[in-house]
Amino acid sequence: MSSRTVIRGGLVITASDEVHADVLIEDGRVAALAVPGTQNWSADRTIDATGKYVIPGGVDAHTHMELPFGGTFASDTFETGTRAAAWGGTTTIVDFAVQSVGHSLREGLDAWHAKAEGNCAIDYAFHMIVSDVNQDTLKEMDLLVEEGVTSFKQFMAYPGVFYSDDGQILRAMQRSAENGGLIMMHAENGIAIDVLVEQALARGETDPRYHGEVRKALLEAEATHRAIKLAQVAGAPLYVVHVSATEAVAELAKARDEGLNVFGETCPQYLFLSTDNLAEPDFEGAKYVCSTPLRPKEHQAKLWQGLRTNDLQVVSTDHCPFCFVGQKELGRGDFSKIPNGLPGVENRMDLLHQAVVDGHISRRRWIEIACATPARMFGMYPKKGTIAPGADADIVIYDPGAEQIMSADTHHMNVDYSAYEGKRTTGRVETVLSRGEVVISEREYTGRAGHGVYTPRSTCQYLN
Ligand code: URP
Ligand code: ZN
Ligand code: ZN
Ligand code: ZN
Repeated sequence: MSSRTVIRGGLVITASDEVHADVLIEDGRVAALAVPGTQNWSADRTIDATGKYVIPGGVDAHTHMELPFGGTFASDTFETGTRAAAWGGTTTIVDFAVQSVGHSLREGLDAWHAKAEGNCAIDYAFHMIVSDVNQDTLKEMDLLVEEGVTSFKQFMAYPGVFYSDDGQILRAMQRSAENGGLIMMHAENGIAIDVLVEQALARGETDPRYHGEVRKALLEAEATHRAIKLAQVAGAPLYVVHVSATEAVAELAKARDEGLNVFGETCPQYLFLSTDNLAEPDFEGAKYVCSTPLRPKEHQAKLWQGLRTNDLQVVSTDHCPFCFVGQKELGRGDFSKIPNGLPGVENRMDLLHQAVVDGHISRRRWIEIACATPARMFGMYPKKGTIAPGADADIVIYDPGAEQIMSADTHHMNVDYSAYEGKRTTGRVETVLSRGEVVISEREYTGRAGHGVYTPRSTCQYLN
């Protein structure tokens, strides 16, 4: 049976346009847009969006639900994490399946499908973390691209865990140049960082703030530069994840000025938090331990500038939550044992709307960096990331004037603290549709685990 929903009277904002329009949804997809009040569409459900924004559901291209990491597991499951994402106006996540050393890509991907299937409130897709580059892995990359896993993360950090050396990186890049895959790089010189970690601990520097001091901006910049050059040698595009340092943005900007297919992602934590948080007393700084690390406040202006000039194209969360009690606490007395990662999948759309309110970016740029470009970058556009006839009806009714205070007391992520505790923001998600189904209705959860489906992706749609 066909179902029809009409959203009336809102301001429809996409990456390219802002227009007052009524939106007709039929069988989970956008069917038409029309000048308000000009069409007498019959509908099973009518949503009044007068005075509200009607925006595409957020696309968060970097999450780690249930990631085994740092001797524990990220505390959000696919069920809790995708429900929290829906609360925050995100309707698609791209999570990272993990190849363990000594195992195949297929085994890793199968394991992640098993964790997600039947549990997600919103749609999901996968990137693949490649930890073991060998001839079999390289062949498997071709197969994964064909079946819709078209991006591969490699690590220049974390020796002994996810780390790849330059030769392994070059080989994977050469393969992706052939098969259309996109290499996503964690760009930090992990070998050098491990030396600095050892020296800091030997000096008795064990507090969380030293995590920020040893993971130097210069070592992010060096790795970013090296990754760009390796990609250039391979003739492959490159996407650098969680960029936090001014010096790394400069490397990306230079490469882009040369016309290279080099892209950069940053995350809300680098835009809104800083080393001041890492230095909070009584081990509270552990709540802010992630890699790349938070930087001194001065770096933020350059990140905002990069987002305006398109030297950075995407804001994702790198959502990788660990509870303070029992998880972050693993690193008391040794900052290197604090599990790396921050919660944020629920906060991204609101924080970026606050950036609109604060004058850092325009409304359309908000939608571009949070919805449209991540969908394009990872081969899901225009199914995801926009509001246009034929697109999935992943739509958020957003109240731009509502005030809220971020807090662990009210958030829906399965983690015992908020990285933004007490932060006041203007703007709030009211209603969320995922493929036409209302999953948040005027701030009530109406979704269900298993509504979200796996979304195979095409190759990158953002190349020069
Ligand atoms: O600290 C972080 N970013 N944890 C998640 C893993 C990664 O490197 O993205
Ligand atoms: Zn195996
Ligand atoms: Zn990373
Ligand atoms: Zn990550």
